[in-house]
Amino acid sequence: MPKRVRKAVLPVAGLGTRFLPATKVIPKEMIPVIDKPVVQYAVEEARAAGIEEFVFVTADGKESIANHFSVHPVLEAMLAEKKKTAELKLIQDATLPSGGLHMVKQHEPLGLGHAVWCAWQLIGDEPFAVILPDDMVLSDTPCLKQLIDAHQKVGGHVVAVENVARDQTNRYGILDVQSEEGNIAKAKGLVEKPDPAKAPSTLAIIGRYILDPIVFKELDKRTKGAGNEIQLTDALNRTIGDVPFHGYRFEGTRYDCGTRVGFVEANVAFGLANPEMKDRLRPIIERLLVESKS
Ligand code: UTP
Repeated sequence: MPKRVRKAVLPVAGLGTRFLPATKVIPKEMIPVIDKPVVQYAVEEARAAGIEEFVFVTADGKESIANHFSVHPVLEAMLAEKKKTAELKLIQDATLPSGGLHMVKQHEPLGLGHAVWCAWQLIGDEPFAVILPDDMVLSDTPCLKQLIDAHQKVGGHVVAVENVARDQTNRYGILDVQSEEGNIAKAKGLVEKPDPAKAPSTLAIIGRYILDPIVFKELDKRTKGAGNEIQLTDALNRTIGDVPFHGYRFEGTRYDCGTRVGFVEANVAFGLANPEMKDRLRPIIERLLVESKS
């Protein structure tokens, strides 16, 4: 039986250039969808999946992420005094317990693989999750919980996958599938950002991973790949054979908040999924659709 997954790495050191000027001083991950920063959705999903310790891989200017998950005594005292208990609960729910929040600096954006490598000392020798907050998933069962349950059965590396349009394969890590059973696809190889004509399949890795710590030894070699970056996909590919690698077709819908259109789509989808908002939102969206045609 594989060890329990207790820790998650959240690489948040990227520059967020696609969201300038919003990201000039605000980290991309702190931009809200509805009323919560994108990164808080990732943390809530992980906590609902049983994750107890969070390692944020950060860069200069991202201090507000750690502050968001820390206690805020002044605001808490003010809200308590004004008897704003619901609001007080909202900010306390966003606080991670002592010992559950770790920050590690990635001094240069050398790639996602390098960002994950930065967390090695804090993860140690146990399976761990990687969550890219940009990918938001709306699902009945938290996406990370689905992966952890699958990992309990098959061990090794288990990553969330979905089919993408063939002309999009050059944006993702793509699986070379050996066999499929139910929601699980066993991979014999992985390719980072292949040209559509050369992609071995259209099964793409999205921003949720359960990884065996063997990947750290591979990342330690600092081999560069696509875009001259240290790619996580390449390191995982080189460990196939040492540990099993499976893609898991998760239940739910993913929204790519790393793009502007995906970000707007996420706001609409999460708004329509919100019981307090959906009835007021639906007629507004319908009216806007009609008006935008005229
Ligand atoms: P992206 O490819 O979305 O890059 O990284 P980015 O810098 O965040 O955004 P753009 O492309 O400039 O708009 C995917 C994830 O990997 C992290 C990012 O923070 C994001 O969560 N990352 C990427 C790092 O932490 N370090 C890196 O060196 C690269």
